[in-house]
Amino acid sequence: MSSVKESIKKRLPFVATAIRNGKINKYSNRLIRSYKRNWINSKTDENKIGYKILLEVHALEKGMTSPNPRYFGTQKIRNIIEYLDIYEKNGWRHDYAFDMGCGILIEYVRFYEEHGWNERPEYEEVKKYINSNGLTVGIGGTKVVLRKEMVADGAIDYEKFLKSRHSVRSYANKKMSESDIRRAVKMAILTPTACNRQMCKIYNISSDSIRESIYKYAHGLTNFKKGYIGMFVVTYDVSALCNESEICQGYLNSGLVSMNFVNALHSLGIGSCFLEYGDSYDEECEMKKVLNIPDNEKVAVMIAAGYYDEKTKVPASVRKPIEEVYRKV
Ligand SMILES: Cc1cc2nc3c(=O)[nH]c(=O)nc-3n(C[C@H](O)[C@H](O)[C@H](O)COP(=O)(O)O)c2cc1C
Repeated sequence: MSSVKESIKKRLPFVATAIRNGKINKYSNRLIRSYKRNWINSKTDENKIGYKILLEVHALEKGMTSPNPRYFGTQKIRNIIEYLDIYEKNGWRHDYAFDMGCGILIEYVRFYEEHGWNERPEYEEVKKYINSNGLTVGIGGTKVVLRKEMVADGAIDYEKFLKSRHSVRSYANKKMSESDIRRAVKMAILTPTACNRQMCKIYNISSDSIRESIYKYAHGLTNFKKGYIGMFVVTYDVSALCNESEICQGYLNSGLVSMNFVNALHSLGIGSCFLEYGDSYDEECEMKKVLNIPDNEKVAVMIAAGYYDEKTKVPASVRKPIEEVYRKV
């Protein structure tokens, strides 16, 4: 830090605070602007239409699990039909969101037939759309889960598993296999996300030169053993978010996905450590450019990873006693 800045900080701490607050305001203004640029609210963007479909699908799936179902979802199925038509009109690829949209229409008809609601106009509307577009295969809808199976499958020694994971900062000098990484990502995909929008992405920085060029953004890489340090970047897609009130959903969902990802890596003999990244909005933009991450995605966290060394020394990172964490109210 320059001596002028140092002297301002010492003599006039309120000026330093004002400068810092100014920086924070500048950061949050740019952040909000970048959010607004990418909100879900657009009908010309495939990505956003996809998320709109997922939102409607999720609401319909929930409606189908209702213990006392009534006719429902007329506007939602109309919206889905509109979005599917936009896909077709633009010649967009039939991706996961498109398939989910088609699937829920098929399930909706099946659900109405099961309840004998075949005379309803919304039933007719969807049935007609399905027939005229030749939709046959459905994904999504509902499924029944059995307590017996959930209890049996959940009865693993999860506590032991959690206790055996530590943030490790030293890795075996061996690249992670693509198959292990894909397995871990598939497990991380099982993480719950808000309205099942699945807005997070996991980037595996496999190129040695690119990986080395982004180490500088991971300010917490000190104390790591030199040599191979695998690197993941977890992002969330702002296009999945509806408005300002959802601004924290990206980070929250990324946190959940990242934790499951790290646990999945651990289950495969891969150690990891979350890394704080970037000090500023500019730094984030810079790193996104290097990694070719689009404007609509925000970086949530970086994760260093690699196969466990034979022996690793880790901080004890003792946890607070439960009394300081748990409150019964
Ligand atoms: C969001 C987040 C950011 C972190 N950033 C860093 C980092 O930059 N450098 C580092 O060495 N460790 C980092 N950590 C690791 C923590 O220090 C570690 O998780 C904590 O001390 C608990 O230890 P444990 O993970 O071994 O249980 C980070 C952890 C989280 C959850």
